[in-house]
Amino acid sequence: MLIKNGLVVVDGEIKFKDILIENEKIVEISDEIIKDGEKILDAKGHYIIPGIIDPHVHMRDPGLTHKEDFETGSKACAKGGVTTFFDMPNTIPNTITEEELLKKKKDAIGRSYVDYGFYFGGSKLDNSTEVEKVKDLVVATKVFMNVSTGNMLVEDEKILENIFKVSKLVGVHAEGEMVQKAIELSEKTGTPVYLCHLSTKEEVEMVRNGKKKGLKIYGEVTPHHLFLNEKDVLKNSLLRMKPELKTKEDNEALWEGIIDGTIDTIGTDHAPHKLEEKLEKLTFGIPGVEHSLEMMLKGVAGGRITLNDLTKIMSENTAKIFGIKNKGKLEIGYDADLVIINLETTERIKKEEVVSKCGWTPYDGFLKGGEVLTTIVRGNVVYNNKKFINKKIGKEVM
Ligand code: DOR
Ligand code: ZN
Ligand code: ZN
Repeated sequence: MLIKNGLVVVDGEIKFKDILIENEKIVEISDEIIKDGEKILDAKGHYIIPGIIDPHVHMRDPGLTHKEDFETGSKACAKGGVTTFFDMPNTIPNTITEEELLKKKKDAIGRSYVDYGFYFGGSKLDNSTEVEKVKDLVVATKVFMNVSTGNMLVEDEKILENIFKVSKLVGVHAEGEMVQKAIELSEKTGTPVYLCHLSTKEEVEMVRNGKKKGLKIYGEVTPHHLFLNEKDVLKNSLLRMKPELKTKEDNEALWEGIIDGTIDTIGTDHAPHKLEEKLEKLTFGIPGVEHSLEMMLKGVAGGRITLNDLTKIMSENTAKIFGIKNKGKLEIGYDADLVIINLETTERIKKEEVVSKCGWTPYDGFLKGGEVLTTIVRGNVVYNNKKFINKKIGKEVM
């Protein structure tokens, strides 16, 4: 396939380029490529960026598939420009044994619109032998160090240490002082730690200090912790999740963390629950994959971040941290995971257009910072002009 007339960022400069894709890879990026017989996609002067890698989603499959499943969740990804996602282990049953992991992997085949990877869960009963067995089959180990949705809290210090020791990378749900604890465990065991959904100024400062000491620690923030705060909860009671929304000052501190490199990635913590469930009782979690890029592009429109830097925290850094080779960049030899976006859009996000099974969005009525026009996974168009191409070509990355 040949994509013509796209605007791309090359060495920090914006240029018109054509992109040639062969065997799922980018093989050429240059001016005016001519190739007879090649299928052509006209980008019509819109920007082309690397496909988004969302390192933090809860697809609810198996066990909670009335909320979301692999097909609907990955379809929402395709619509949002997310070409790869990493799925969390707090499904039912929890992904804490090799057997469950292998079953999850098998069941996912042929059901995803986009590429994916899995986390393995650390268990309070100390499953470190299992963690060690599967460590090369997953993107990372996930450990809950604070209470959240699901019943996966690990409190025992010795067990935490055992799990850290045998992991290649540990993603943690840690809040407040537990962020510091996770950093210390990482330092003690030598295993890098990925700090999910940082939400406060203090947490960002802990990560900043840890990085200054040269520790292998990485910080993630969600679009909702950047764009929403406690004032929004007063207007919309659906906006409850763990960690909870904080203050305007915290929003600002997270943006600063992005700008100075303390924050490495954007992850949505896509945590779909049905609207009925949210209304019926306090249920933590909000959906995210469908609008993360369109929301983050508001940061570009508002001059907070350049498009080039946004692609680093939404694709390039993420691929590097999790060791995903050949993804995350528009470069020759890389997987042709691309998104074509319209930065001149005046569209708003509409709940009627949601494809996630949960059926709602926290961003209903928000102006988009840009619009996802086309999503391409390894050279396959999976979403174009508001239509899905129903070939579920998604593959596991590990
Ligand atoms: O709000 C949340 N919901 N935070 C989490 O850490 C888990 C998630 C879920 O699975 O619903
Ligand atoms: Zn979490
Ligand atoms: Zn989560």
